[in-house]
Amino acid sequence: MLNGKTIIIGISGGIAAYKTAYLVSRLVKNHAEVHVIMTDHAREFIAPLTFETLSGQECVTNTFERKGHFDVEHVELAKKADLFMVAPATANIIAKFAHGIADDMLSTTFLAANCPKIVVPAMNTRMYENPITQDNIELLRKYGMTVVDPAVGLLACGDTGAGKMPEPEELFEWILREVGRPKDMIGKRVLVSAGATQESMDPVRYITNHSSGKMGFAVARECVMRGADVTLVKAATSAEVPRFCIVIDAVNAEAMFREVTEHAADADIVVMAAAISDYTPVDYSDQKIKKKDGDLSIPLKRTTDILAHLGANRKDGQFLCGFSMETENMLENSRGKLARKNVDMIVANNLKNEGAGFGTDTNLVTLITKDTVHEQVLMSKQEVARVIINQILDMTK
Ligand SMILES: Cc1cc2nc3c(=O)[nH]c(=O)nc-3n(C[C@H](O)[C@H](O)[C@H](O)COP(=O)(O)O)c2cc1C
Repeated sequence: MLNGKTIIIGISGGIAAYKTAYLVSRLVKNHAEVHVIMTDHAREFIAPLTFETLSGQECVTNTFERKGHFDVEHVELAKKADLFMVAPATANIIAKFAHGIADDMLSTTFLAANCPKIVVPAMNTRMYENPITQDNIELLRKYGMTVVDPAVGLLACGDTGAGKMPEPEELFEWILREVGRPKDMIGKRVLVSAGATQESMDPVRYITNHSSGKMGFAVARECVMRGADVTLVKAATSAEVPRFCIVIDAVNAEAMFREVTEHAADADIVVMAAAISDYTPVDYSDQKIKKKDGDLSIPLKRTTDILAHLGANRKDGQFLCGFSMETENMLENSRGKLARKNVDMIVANNLKNEGAGFGTDTNLVTLITKDTVHEQVLMSKQEVARVIINQILDMTK
């Protein structure tokens, strides 16, 4: 994902500096070239050797160190960077960045760099909430930098409040969103549904299916990384919800129908990856049915076919993609759905194939359109999402 990208990670003297080691490792494993610059105070918290070992690059700390070559190092590094993230960013380094002070290697290189910059404040709540720090953060935003809001929680100093550095995994997502994919979906509005609806039988039990939501989430994440504005309508799922989307909960088929139809009205692309239960229990309170003792049967009624409704009511130029889980006659059944429901593409998977379908992190799919059939190999769901989006963009050029 980060092949060919050069990322500078700046570290200043905050207790969260240890977390940045994991971030550097994550970036390197994703094939980024990572250069770490530390302030002198950062070295009090974690040794440069840790970052040198993880990044395979010298960890730069001193602006005036001579190394026998005559490049001006802070300028050279600044020129080659695709992205500059400072995590943790102390109140002190934020103040320097905001006012153009360049009195150490980190602040000097930061001032020299004109790549996208992401600053991650991490400090005691009182320092963070101090109007001086808040004004400095506003200045960074005014100058076009991204400032990540700190998490709220128990801080290392024992106080509770805003100021915690977000976890490395979240910072990795911020980096991916900035440089992880070409930005070929800017201005596109995408609606994705994901997860499994739950149809209540009574206050305790419900009917559902095995969908984990992972495939829909991967599609939403792919679109976000490529610059789209994504609305994600999610039913039940325990998978980690992708960041940077507008997330709307819709637990049952009725709520899913309501939310999806409302938000589809503005979408350029709709990907229905949620697994909607075909049936929902009839509400007993409406019925004059008396059950015999021990009778476990429940009357069911069909839920609305959301994909067909979207196909019948879509706005001009909207691309509609549905998913189809088949156990037999995959191609024939999917082609039938494509025509019947007025859909542009069906992503079909055969539940009998190992590694495909519900719950797994991989999928084996076939993309079926009116004129084409593209069988894919077994891939991660994230890679499948990329293939799906590539195909959609090809068809909507
Ligand atoms: C144990 C300890 C923890 C600290 N943690 C933070 C912190 O999380 N955030 C912060 O802004 N400053 C923190 N400081 C204060 C900074 O280290 C101090 O302001 C320093 O001058 C920052 O220098 P730098 O920005 O050049 O790295 C801490 C200091 C100590 C002694």
